Amino acid sequence: MDKTPHTEPRQSWTFSNEINSEIRRAAATGIYDIRGGGAKRRVPHFDDLLFLGASMSRYPLEGYREKCGTEVVLGTRFAKKPIELKIPVTIAGMSFGALSGNAKEALGRGATMAGTSTTTGDGGMTEEERGHSEKLVYQYLPSRYGMNPDDLRRADAIEVVVGQGAKPGGGGMLLGQKITERVAGMRDLPVGIDQRSACRHPDWTGPDDLEIKILELREITNWEKPIYIKVGGARPYYDTALAVKAGADVVVLDGMQGGTAATQDVFIEHVGQPTLACIRPAVKALQDLGMHRKVQLVVSGGIRTGADVAKALALGADAVSIGTAALIALGDNDPKWEAEYQKLGTTTGAYDDWHEGRDPAGITTQDPELAARLDPIEAGRRLRNYLSVLTLECQTIARACGKSHVHNLEPEDLCALTIEAAAMAGVPLAGTSWIPGQSGF
Ligand SMILES: Cc1cc2nc3c(=O)[nH]c(=O)nc-3n(C[C@H](O)[C@H](O)[C@H](O)COP(=O)(O)O)c2cc1C
Repeated sequence: MDKTPHTEPRQSWTFSNEINSEIRRAAATGIYDIRGGGAKRRVPHFDDLLFLGASMSRYPLEGYREKCGTEVVLGTRFAKKPIELKIPVTIAGMSFGALSGNAKEALGRGATMAGTSTTTGDGGMTEEERGHSEKLVYQYLPSRYGMNPDDLRRADAIEVVVGQGAKPGGGGMLLGQKITERVAGMRDLPVGIDQRSACRHPDWTGPDDLEIKILELREITNWEKPIYIKVGGARPYYDTALAVKAGADVVVLDGMQGGTAATQDVFIEHVGQPTLACIRPAVKALQDLGMHRKVQLVVSGGIRTGADVAKALALGADAVSIGTAALIALGDNDPKWEAEYQKLGTTTGAYDDWHEGRDPAGITTQDPELAARLDPIEAGRRLRNYLSVLTLECQTIARACGKSHVHNLEPEDLCALTIEAAAMAGVPLAGTSWIPGQSGF
């Protein structure tokens, strides 16, 4: 018998089981991993911040008697018809093609009941979403798929997409499995062939050209619609400043945790900055230009709870936008489909092969049988409920901090649990008055 003492088997941190499994997958297939969703790795996030709440030096508001406003107006700079929302949470752009028609309808129904807007995506405007969204933002993307001036005029606002947090510098992807006749028709593409959209706009190369493009969009829409510019969180200070210079009414800033319908995993996990790190530099750019609150800032990327909403607003955003959380509210990654997730080689909560179009919940699919599983009326109600909870939670925190409007939340109401979060959010480390990196962004 071997009497030699053995130590526990030692796994490598560098070559973890997860990394080794990816190396084996790459070796077996020769193709990179494509998936949907946002960054899965842990990066500093809103969870690393806490609100201080009122006590002696601050005066809280009474929950049931004292008003705490939640309304937001987007597009007050140039547009004749700014967007008026009842809540500070909007639904982010998600393309028809990536999502089923029923999912688009459910988003429209839920958002409208909650008093907020939805957004089209890379692939044009569908009747499902225009018909059910009281306020619809129309995306103007590098691919120009489904773009036409009539739909620009049917929209309530226009969002020029320069980039996305999940893939700043990259274009969209829609694999052949999801390119049905309807999707192909809207995008002028062949049925069943993988599509990779452009990563930059075909007719402009920088902010000066973008300024001209925005003027064109304003002329087409009679200066009525607010024009948003959406950027991925890479260089938020300069991107925000340039968006303002180009004439944006609203800047949409999407951090690295932001979801996508499909892109390379290496892109999702290794390009861009955490949402938390993007907000203060963007707000500083607006402040330096005297434009904070005049050009509105919408932040997205990993927003899940009312606390996240309140923290983003306290750091200076005017509103937030949600993608992944809205899909979960509709029924995505629901444990009731666990047996089917297992058949796809995954499990509830981890399912991210949205590009394959086999979504058991009927949301990220174009398969008619799967899509029919999503009841847009019921799913719309679930989204409405969720949006209502986000707003109530945000209001609860604002009242506890003594604010009569959620926009009165400020960095002064926050502290950070880690040095990293303190530096990124520009708020003191808990228990100290120390804000690391105060010398500048
Ligand atoms: C299924 C899906 C499809 C998307 N499609 C688009 C798109 O067509 N255009 C775009 O600008 N962003 C797209 N996005 C990104 C969202 O607009 C948004 O930036 C992101 O989802 C926000 O992060 P969150 O998912 O953590 O809330 C998509 C996201 C998802 C989850």
